[in-house]
Parts: sequence; structure tokens; C-alpha cells
Amino acid sequence: MAVATGIRAGLPGRSTGARTGWRPLLLVLLGIVGCLPPATSLAGVWGRNYFPNYRLVNQDGEELRFYDDVIKGKVVSINFMFTSCADVCPVETAKLRQVQQMLGDRVGRDVFMYSITIDPEHDTPEVLKAYREQFNIGPGWQFLTGKREEIEDLQKRFGLYVRSRQEIDPLDHNVSLMLGNEATGRWLKRSPFDNPAVLANTLGYALHGNRRNPALASYDQAHRIESFDRGEYLFRTRCASCHTLGGGVAVGPDLLHVTAVRDRDWLARWIREPDAMIAEGDPLAKRLVAAYKGLPMPNLSLNEVDVEALLKFLEQQHAASGKLRTAATEDQLRPPDPPEAQPDD
Ligand code: HEC
Repeated sequence: MAVATGIRAGLPGRSTGARTGWRPLLLVLLGIVGCLPPATSLAGVWGRNYFPNYRLVNQDGEELRFYDDVIKGKVVSINFMFTSCADVCPVETAKLRQVQQMLGDRVGRDVFMYSITIDPEHDTPEVLKAYREQFNIGPGWQFLTGKREEIEDLQKRFGLYVRSRQEIDPLDHNVSLMLGNEATGRWLKRSPFDNPAVLANTLGYALHGNRRNPALASYDQAHRIESFDRGEYLFRTRCASCHTLGGGVAVGPDLLHVTAVRDRDWLARWIREPDAMIAEGDPLAKRLVAAYKGLPMPNLSLNEVDVEALLKFLEQQHAASGKLRTAATEDQLRPPDPPEAQPDD
């Protein structure tokens, strides 16, 4: 399995607590966008003359031209991925799914999202469609495939082609996102580990001529961050794109009561190395993967200290929810089992 560039070292958790910590980052970001020369002077630099009009195919088998249909006149997010990537791509897809949810029905209307596979031999339109379904991705975000050389050329034009790595392993790729407005010629490279609220604001407002987001409170109303809890920080930066705490099933199960219904050692190992447990055929792991449409939870390269902090945080969340672990609540709290049992369990 290829390891995408910077995956292991590349989970810096750059964003801070989702509740408040993104505001300073946002100001920096708006500052950067605001410092660019006037939009008109950039249009055309990265426009029709720069981007080829390659023929791509989406998850429904429909043909799209890269320049005319994908980017021309649009505000877009573009990332390169492949569906069999087990580590960073699912984390990136889940993060973009949060961004899509924040932008709501604007996606497909005035913001367009695209994920382009770099493994076109494997990722046919049908495979891309199934991947979208695994992640419950809504309309307006298309998954595209095409000719390998042309996709590689697009990566190069976005400055996302890592020659030293991809010439050895074509799937070892740069996972940065490109956010841009073709009409004004403004393009930004962003990390998929950025706070989804910041990414959504860039796509929804900053790239639309610095439109002000009416939902943003004034900076002096920002909450003070009173304490810094490592477990909460890890949860928000590494887990919250796939899991809620009391908000129901997202990409993966709701984890509010998970510490009440699972064995602690099992949980600790699962959070550290779900891939190894799935590969070993751990019966519970198998049942969970089956219940979540075959989408495996990625190995997030956490160490024991991280896992302990996460478990403590999850235990506190469960305790704060006011539900005690008793025989009576056990059933009520148990996450749903998959519909049909595996015959060999
Ligand atoms: C890209 C999505 C994704 C991310 C990120 C992710 N998970 Fe998961 N997780 C899943 C899926 C999907 C499952 C269901 C099992 C499966 O399909 O592998 C799962 C299952 C679990 C379970 C088992 C739940 C149960 O009922 O026993 C725990 C615990 C868990 N995840 C914790 C975490 C923690 C903690 C993090 C962050 C450090 C995290 N996950 C990050 C997708 C994700």
C-alpha cells in the first residue's frame, strides 16, 4: 500500500478547538487573500491558456471537460485521491464532507467540489460511485477519473506532483487541496487537516471577492479558551470528521457512549491500529466494518499517550451525558449491530 506524501508526519492537527480556535486562523487567512493583487490582474494567468481541456468522466459515467465544465467561471475545491488509499485519503474525504455540510446547498450552485482519482485503472466510475456512497456524500461534489497521463499533468499544473516520490510510486501523492476561483485567477493551496470551518469560509466567502460571512461574529466576541485538553484537541482534529458525540452516525458510529459498552483494552488497540485488527479478522472489528459499508477506519498513527488522552476524553463525555453504566442502560447504549451476523463469527 502506498503511503501518501506526509501522511504519517502529516497529521499536524493544525486547527485548534473547533468552537473558537479557528477565528485567529481565519483572520490570517483573510489577510493573505486580501493581500493579493486585484483580482483582474490574475485572471488569465491560471485560466484558459494554462489549464487544458482534458476529458474526464464522473461517478455517473458523464463526460466533463476539465476547463469548460469543471473550473471555468467557478469557485472550486480540487483534490487528488484514490479509493483504495487506507490512511490519509479517507481522512481528507471525511474532512471535505464536513466542509460540504457546512456549505449546504451552495455546493453544486456557487461552490463546486471535485476529487480526482490518481488511480484511474482501478477507480472506474462505478468504483468512485460506491466510494461516494460509503461516505454518504451529497450532491454537488463530483468524483472524476480520466487518462493517467492527463491527470498527472493536472497535478503538475497545480504544483501537486511530487516527482521524487511519484516516479517511484505513482500513488504516493501530495494530498493538499486546491481552492480557487477561475474567474478571478485566485488559487490557494490548503492542507486537508485545516479546520473545516476555515476551509468552508474560504470557499463560501473569501474566494467570492472577499464576501463577508454573515454568520461570523465579531472578533471581540470570541470565547476565551480556558483550558487545553489534549484528548479533546485530538478528538476535534483527528476524529470529528467521521464521528459525533451524541449527534448520531456520521461516516462512522456516534462515540458518546462507546466507552460504556466496549472493553477498554479493545478500544485502546482499535484506536491505535484498526487496520491490524481488521486484517487479523477480529470478530467485532469485522462486524463493525460490515455495518459501515465496508469502509475501514484509518490508522491515524497515534501513540499510547494520545490514545489514553482520547479514551479519558470519551469517558468524560459519556459521564457528562448523565448515563450510568448499568445492565438496564447497557442495551440502550450499545451501538447498533450490523443487520446480518457473519456466518463465521
Ligand atoms: C475517515 C473516517 C474515520 C476517522 C477519521 C476516524 N474513524 Fe473511528 N471509525 C470509522 C468507521 C467507518 C468506523 C466503523 C468501523 C469500520 O468500518 O472500520 C469507526 C469505528 C470506531 C470505533 C468503534 C466504535 C464501536 O462501536 O465500537 C471507535 C472507538 C472509533 N472509531 C474511534 C475513533 C477515534 C478515537 C478517532 C480519532 C482518533 C477515529 N475513530 C477516527 C471511521 C473513522
